[in-house]
Amino acid sequence: MTNNADHIGSLPVAPMALGTMYFGTTLTQPQAWECLDTAAALGATFWDTSNNYAFWAGGTGDESESVLGEWFASRGAHARDQIVLASKVGARPLAGHSDLDHVAGLSAPAIREQVTASLLRLRTDRLDVLYAHVDDQSVAFEETLGAFADLVEEGLVREVAASNLTAKRLAEALTVTTSHPYRALQQRFTYLQPAATADTAPQVVLDDATELIAETAGITLVGYSPLLSGAYTRKDRPLPSEYDTPANTVRLERLREVTKSSEMDAGQVVLAWMKQRPRAVIPIVGVSSPSQVRSAWSAVTTDIPAALMSILGQ
Ligand SMILES: NC(=O)c1ccc[n+]([C@@H]2O[C@H](COP(=O)([O-])OP(=O)(O)OC[C@H]3O[C@@H](n4cnc5c(N)ncnc54)[C@H](OP(=O)(O)O)[C@@H]3O)[C@@H](O)[C@H]2O)c1
Repeated sequence: MTNNADHIGSLPVAPMALGTMYFGTTLTQPQAWECLDTAAALGATFWDTSNNYAFWAGGTGDESESVLGEWFASRGAHARDQIVLASKVGARPLAGHSDLDHVAGLSAPAIREQVTASLLRLRTDRLDVLYAHVDDQSVAFEETLGAFADLVEEGLVREVAASNLTAKRLAEALTVTTSHPYRALQQRFTYLQPAATADTAPQVVLDDATELIAETAGITLVGYSPLLSGAYTRKDRPLPSEYDTPANTVRLERLREVTKSSEMDAGQVVLAWMKQRPRAVIPIVGVSSPSQVRSAWSAVTTDIPAALMSILGQ
């Protein structure tokens, strides 16, 4: 990797993040633990959760963090120390609500309350990476970053980060004077780009302008939904309609060509491409079985030859 994709601020991180969004809701605790055990044994030790996963799948939002916390408690103190644990605040629905229009947000008191609850669920004394999950334009960046910095100074958080910020808003956040600026940015990203007219809100797709700002500021890029839920390889997962564009037809043809010359399947090629492109993006891979963990890990620890990288392009 040629940019910051092997660390976030001072923290070394694995070449992929384990997506735990459906742990404890769609996935039972034993299924989730099998994935966690497999990931820990492989060295896939950068884990991604949030304080709202997955309220939309019939949960309260506690489930993913709780399943991880129970795993840490059951596997002993050493287990927690092996893991770079990332969670997110800001997009948890308020009591009595189950939608993203009424969320806890990113004011200083809301951040403190949410992090305190996350630490209890995760049964830990610190978050290694704390993300602001979605933009909260009702609160000044000075307040949010100030609250984040206090948590770092108290040892409750090690590095702070953002998710779903546009280039303009990221640039604004970077004007705030703080000793603990955003060190990572988590956006939606895969080999294909949704149509320019697609409405992805509240999700924000990584774009060139944002990549440039991040590169200049030394911000590590992290990309979610890299496998498009399995659409690169599975007939039961059609490509979402917003990806049906002439540019993506060309890219899919390039991906087919490279996959034919490779030992990897198309989804694995995408994961390897993400971490190998000049502006590397750490993929966060959603998993529901040990074999999916192994497949993703094998991809991010395999190098695509330069000639095939040039076919894939940027
Ligand atoms: N910051 C944000 O706003 C945000 C938003 C969304 C997600 N995220 C994070 O990103 C993570 C990943 O998101 P995602 O679930 O949308 O991503 P994804 O990686 O694009 O899709 C994951 C799904 O792909 C399928 N899959 C995994 N490995 C496969 C393989 N080898 N072959 C075929 N299919 C495979 C699985 O479906 P089945 O389980 O059905 O088999 C899995 O659940 C989440 O867990 C979360 O941590 C963050």
